Amino acid sequence: MRILLPLLLLITVTAQAAGPGKNAVASAHPLATDAGMEILAKGGNAYDAAIAVAAALAVVEPYSAGMGGGGFWLLHRESDSLQTFVDARETAPDAAIPTMYQDRDGKVVRDWALNGPSAAGIPGQAAAFVHLADNYGKLPLKTSLAPAIRLAREGFEVEDHYRKLAGYREEVLNRFPEAAALFLHNGKVPPAGHVIKQPDLARVLTLLAEKGKAGFYQGEVARKLVEGVEQAGGIWTLEDLANYDVIERSPTVSTFKNARIVSAPPPSAGGIVMGQALNILSQFDGEPDTHLIVEAMRRAYQDRARYLGDPDFVDIPVDKLLSSEYARQRARSINPDEATPSHTLGEPLTVEEGFHTTHLSVLDKAGNRVAATLSINLPFGSGFVPPGTGVLLNNEMDDFSAKPGSPNAYGLVGSEANAIAPGKRPLSSMTPTFVEFDDRVAILGTPGGSRIITMVMLGVLEAANDQPVDAWVNRVRFHHQYLPDEVQAEPEFVGSEAAKELMLRGHHVVSTGRDYGNMQAILWRKGSNEVTAASDPRGIGSAAVSGQAPLKKTGTD
Ligand code: DON
Repeated sequence: MRILLPLLLLITVTAQAAGPGKNAVASAHPLATDAGMEILAKGGNAYDAAIAVAAALAVVEPYSAGMGGGGFWLLHRESDSLQTFVDARETAPDAAIPTMYQDRDGKVVRDWALNGPSAAGIPGQAAAFVHLADNYGKLPLKTSLAPAIRLAREGFEVEDHYRKLAGYREEVLNRFPEAAALFLHNGKVPPAGHVIKQPDLARVLTLLAEKGKAGFYQGEVARKLVEGVEQAGGIWTLEDLANYDVIERSPTVSTFKNARIVSAPPPSAGGIVMGQALNILSQFDGEPDTHLIVEAMRRAYQDRARYLGDPDFVDIPVDKLLSSEYARQRARSINPDEATPSHTLGEPLTVEEGFHTTHLSVLDKAGNRVAATLSINLPFGSGFVPPGTGVLLNNEMDDFSAKPGSPNAYGLVGSEANAIAPGKRPLSSMTPTFVEFDDRVAILGTPGGSRIITMVMLGVLEAANDQPVDAWVNRVRFHHQYLPDEVQAEPEFVGSEAAKELMLRGHHVVSTGRDYGNMQAILWRKGSNEVTAASDPRGIGSAAVSGQAPLKKTGTD
């Protein structure tokens, strides 16, 4: 013992010295960023803080993610360099069948897949909190959930972003009295400044803190969730909830220039699609131009629909899809002077565009990191709250392919690989990512449906060019997803020189009509030990670095 003790101390000191000595949080809402910084200041690590941020977002951003949803958590532990991916994606209930969203004539009824309890998968968020706290955190859930519980009890003020998204889902929220009472005011979008209190949600979070997983997936909460779903025509059972568990998976790893990119494996398409696109770019000399980036995106998205789904149900040739040999083969069909019409590349597909979801990035002073992208799918998810729970259920079942060839909310059609099956996880585009260089580390991610992957890819390209963190979140965005065969771009891009260049090469460039995405990013420069963080100016979020004044939108060290 006498010999061991100083040795252990030494190891601890060395591990701490390796970190930045500063904490940083970037999230989509200032109150959630504050919650994360509060927990870090109390001695919590990045994982405790990520729980606090996600729980706070579940309260103040009810339209994007929450206890009725799921998500993906990419973790890095500095002391032993462990990198893991906590898959807390929703699962299809046991009674789910491939044709559950088709009527007797085989026609897909979009409403069943999108609205009300029939659209909801079994939520993973509560299980993720418990898993993270038990296996990686330093603090009890009672502490890390405290800021969220406080916000749920005391309420938060509605702002314009909330109003816009509530307007989009007003009709559906009005179908369910519990949801309308919580998120609307007299059946209408609440005015700015209206305070929303969620005492039932506060109780659910409290029970989770007290009882762990059983506090949500068994007992009072589980019973109310299942009763509510059943009475409104859904198919959840108590067993579905009791059987839910997160799955730890190995992240995908790819390289671009001198960067190591650690990202989301299936059931997300993120790491594979981005890795393949970057591998294709690596086949060409020099800085890739917009045409090349678009052609790489086109080819990688084609494979999204061909091959990807829940890896526990379908075999995915991950190694092949991420190999240089395959990228070389895919790159060969690129004409440097002309757009390749998508239909000449093989079977057709359409992919989604996005509405809402959320991302958070955390770095603690020891160098531990979290990138988490969390979702209930469309704004306000399914619009359904089981009475007495305050838990707004997701409509993530719509990320499955309801029928071959039939598009989902984002225009996505999938293959058999993404067909509905009991216990299966729907294919996602969420792409929480780390980018690692010898001298610096980046943490980033964003919501935005199928455009998530290309947004993160554009962010990675900025990071690879050693641009400051603000540049990644500010950058004007463009996207190609194979089909529809068009470059979807933010309005500002459409008038640019780059867009003209694309059009000259035969690309069809269309404006998305509005800016998209809500990226949250952190950069740690190890050499100078600078930490900078930024929250997308398109959203209302905030980024903070300890020892500095809070940053409204974007900020630097
Ligand atoms: O998992 C997915 O890919 C979708 N459910 C994400 C939805 C989304 O990002 C909406 N965003 N704005």
